Amino acid sequence: MTPLLRQVLSQVDGPDPRINEVVAALVTHLHNFVEEVRPTEREWLAGLDFLIATGRMCTEHRNEFVLLSDMLGLTSAVDDVNHQGPDNMTPSSVEGPFHSPAPVRALGDWISHGPERERGTPTVVHGRVLDCDGTPLAGAEVELWQASDAGLYDSQDDAQEIGNLRGLFRTDAEGRYWFRTIRPSSYPVPTDGPAGTLLRAVGRHPMRPAHLHYRVSAGGHRPLVTHVFVAGDPYLGSDAAYAVKDELVREPLPRTSGWEMDGPYEEIEFDLRLVPLDWKPE
Ligand code: BEZ
Ligand code: FE
Repeated sequence: MTPLLRQVLSQVDGPDPRINEVVAALVTHLHNFVEEVRPTEREWLAGLDFLIATGRMCTEHRNEFVLLSDMLGLTSAVDDVNHQGPDNMTPSSVEGPFHSPAPVRALGDWISHGPERERGTPTVVHGRVLDCDGTPLAGAEVELWQASDAGLYDSQDDAQEIGNLRGLFRTDAEGRYWFRTIRPSSYPVPTDGPAGTLLRAVGRHPMRPAHLHYRVSAGGHRPLVTHVFVAGDPYLGSDAAYAVKDELVREPLPRTSGWEMDGPYEEIEFDLRLVPLDWKPE
C-alpha cells in the first residue's frame, strides 16, 4: 500500500460502517488502478470528461450510467451476487432500461398490435410459474416486454402505441400463462452516447440477442426479473449486456395448429421457478 493510500484510508471514518467499507474498498481499487495503469494527466482528465458526458446524457427517459453499467457487465455482476438460490430456480437477469408499466391482458391475448404484427413471425409463448419444488403458483403476476421485429420498444418507435409488445398477465389455477406475439429479434443498444463511444473504442458490437423480458411475482416468493432468449441467435455468445444464462435459452418450435392460431407459428415454452422468501443457503 502506498503512503498516500494509507493516509486516504485513515480518514475514512464516518458514522455508517457500510459506507466506510464501500468507500475504503473503492478508494483502494482506484489507487491500485492508478498504480497499475499509470495514466497520464491528460488520460485521467479524458476519463473524467467521459463520466461528465455520461451524466449529461441522462434524462428522465434515459439513464446512460445504467447503460454503461450494463455494457461493462457490472449490472450482471451485481445481479449475480444478489440472487443466489436453489440450483433449480430460474436465474435472474438484468432489467435493462426499457421497462415501463404494461397493460393488463387476459391469458391468450396478443401483445403485438402494431405494424410489426404483419411482418413478424407469429409466436405463442407459454409456461408455468412454479415454486422451486414444482408446486404451481396460481394468481402469479407475469409482466412481459419485448422489442419489435425491427428491434424497437414502443417508447423508441412512433409506429407503435405505448403499451404495444407489453402485457401483464395472471397465472391460472395451475400456474399457467400464455400469450400470442411475434418472434423477438436481436437489436442494438443505444450507441449515440458515451456507452456507444466506449463500445466502438474497444471494438465491441452493440447487439443484444433476441429476447423477451419477464418480471414475475407471487406471494411468499422473491420477485424475479429475467429474460427468455431465442436459441440459435448469433449474438447469444456475445450479448452486449452480458445477460445470457444457458438456463434461459429456449428453442422456438415450428407448429401448424393449436393454441387458437390460424396458420403456421412458433411455440416457445418457458417455465419460471421462484425462490421462497424464507430460502436460506445450507
Ligand atoms: C434491454 O434488453 O432492453 C437492454 C438491456 C441492457 C442494456 C440495454 C438494453
Ligand atoms: Fe430488451
